[in-house]
Amino acid sequence: MCGIVGYIGKRQAYPVIINGLKRLEYRGYDSAGVCVVDGDPYMYKCKGKVSDLEEHIGSRPVAGTVGIGHTRWATHGEPNDVNAHPHISMNGHFIIIHNGIIENYTQLKKKLERRDYKFSSDTDTEVLVNLIEYIYLKGNISAEIAVRLALTKVVGAYGIVVICRDEPNTLVAARKGSPLVIGVGNEEYFVASDATPIVEFTNSVIFLNDDDVAVIRPGELVLKTIRNEALEPKIQTLDLDIEEIEKNGFDHFMLKEIFEQPRSIHDTFRGRISADYKNIHLGGLYHVLPRLIEAKRIILIGCGTSWHAGLVGEYLFEELARIPVEVEYASEFRYRNPVIYKDDVVIAISQSGETADTLAAIKLAKEAGALVLGVCNVVGSSIPRETHAGVYTHAGPEIGVASTKAFTAQVTVLTMMAILLGRKRGHITEERYQVLIDEMYAIPDKIEKILESNDKVLQIAEIFKDSTNFLYLGRGYFYPVALEGALKLKEISYIHAEGYPAAEMKHGPIALIDEKMPVVVIAAKDSSYEKVVSNVQEVKARKGVVISIVTEGDTVIRDMTDYVIEIPKADEIVESLLAVIPLQLLAYHIALLRGCNVDQPRNLAKSVTVE
Ligand code: G6P
Repeated sequence: MCGIVGYIGKRQAYPVIINGLKRLEYRGYDSAGVCVVDGDPYMYKCKGKVSDLEEHIGSRPVAGTVGIGHTRWATHGEPNDVNAHPHISMNGHFIIIHNGIIENYTQLKKKLERRDYKFSSDTDTEVLVNLIEYIYLKGNISAEIAVRLALTKVVGAYGIVVICRDEPNTLVAARKGSPLVIGVGNEEYFVASDATPIVEFTNSVIFLNDDDVAVIRPGELVLKTIRNEALEPKIQTLDLDIEEIEKNGFDHFMLKEIFEQPRSIHDTFRGRISADYKNIHLGGLYHVLPRLIEAKRIILIGCGTSWHAGLVGEYLFEELARIPVEVEYASEFRYRNPVIYKDDVVIAISQSGETADTLAAIKLAKEAGALVLGVCNVVGSSIPRETHAGVYTHAGPEIGVASTKAFTAQVTVLTMMAILLGRKRGHITEERYQVLIDEMYAIPDKIEKILESNDKVLQIAEIFKDSTNFLYLGRGYFYPVALEGALKLKEISYIHAEGYPAAEMKHGPIALIDEKMPVVVIAAKDSSYEKVVSNVQEVKARKGVVISIVTEGDTVIRDMTDYVIEIPKADEIVESLLAVIPLQLLAYHIALLRGCNVDQPRNLAKSVTVE
């Protein structure tokens, strides 16, 4: 939530910052702002997207080689020009951009008001910048010391970059809870919420840890803790290609990412399924494998789409490895005093690796002594660093706010883990193990085939684009797929959609069914196929309009339903990876036909770094 960019060096800061903000816009797009310093600061901000900001700035002056910028997902105060970042302190000494939430901002604000500080915005950030200034002026100290001292008074989460007008050749950056990466160039530095604004300039980066403070001047970076303990900067090399963060000819990132899935799934199992297709090796779990094999219980935690991947994981681990599994929303888990045993294995699933609730749940599980693993997409993000071990999903950067390829990559990793554990625990035979590996390997080609039905999905979308409600039904592995299909539609088309276990329909949602209600039924051939046939009949008996996802060659459901999309035959262990693809396409086309911004749906943000 909120994207921040800073630059200090020899180039003009403005283009670096504006382009960086565009790359970070998936983190929030309620308002945007920049401040470029050239002796005096040029500061511009406005409600809306980065393109609105560019228009607002027009040909006004922006020269300068030091600058900061922000794209906002509103927490405190409505999205408007005044609440947009950067914020400047009352006496004009400090300018700040902030990602996170200052939880004790009301108390701090009252204290500052008693000292005659006046506030023009509703934000917690303005409180922080004034606190920094108050400490600075009172103590007659350097900007860096003032920032550090102020941060010791703050409860909450922050990634900040601060400019002091009295020291215009310095950026002070600090993090706690919200991510910050520093790009190290030749006598120049970049600061950003993630590496995407940096990668076109340098692939040498430093990921800040909680309580780190970086004092950055052209050609000089000093890293220390908030308590002034010196730190050795650990420079890492990024493996990120600029093309991966461009649209590459697609109209939208979401469509590009849907079409990337054959490759992203392949990348996720490449090197993990041996070249002779005989074995699964998960290097990231090597040291913890004995404990994982002995686990008495697995708890999968996540939010949003990642939670849906967790539900697929539950079915997989129980089926293949015979380990009891619970799947928890991270936000519920962390606050409900859960019972966690030392021989539990907690697996946190997260595309961004930064979701605040998931991070908090991890800390709780670690304190309770459980083995905590991560399944994350963003390399170097907070969750992989907080967990004992884990497996990266090599889906590549996912920019569309509605998750697509990250979901299938998460399910791919969980499938590999479940197959591996099933084999190690002796619950699947060598023969079945081989079959499942082959089934996994065949998935990318099968997805390619499904993608060929894009035009057909578009035709169906045209028919249903004006519907106001949708119901998605599935059983077994297709139940989480139904949830995910409904979530995709809600997120980007703003149509109310509900996912339900097909059999549960008769305990409520059936009352909603009439001839205007499209019902998407995932009815591919699996062990509950016959039951789903009955559920489809129940819908048709009430005049519901059914769009079915069926296995190639199926005639039973085809004859019963109104619109049919076929997917290739596969073992049910891997079938969710196929069934979700047409649902992603359906949501995409409906949203587009309704004129919605598919990559940046209203009110949402991709990386939710607040509770
Ligand atoms: C937001 C995003 C979703 C994502 C969820 C969890 O809601 O819009 O696409 O599934 O956060 O994010 P994570 O990065 O932890 O997977």
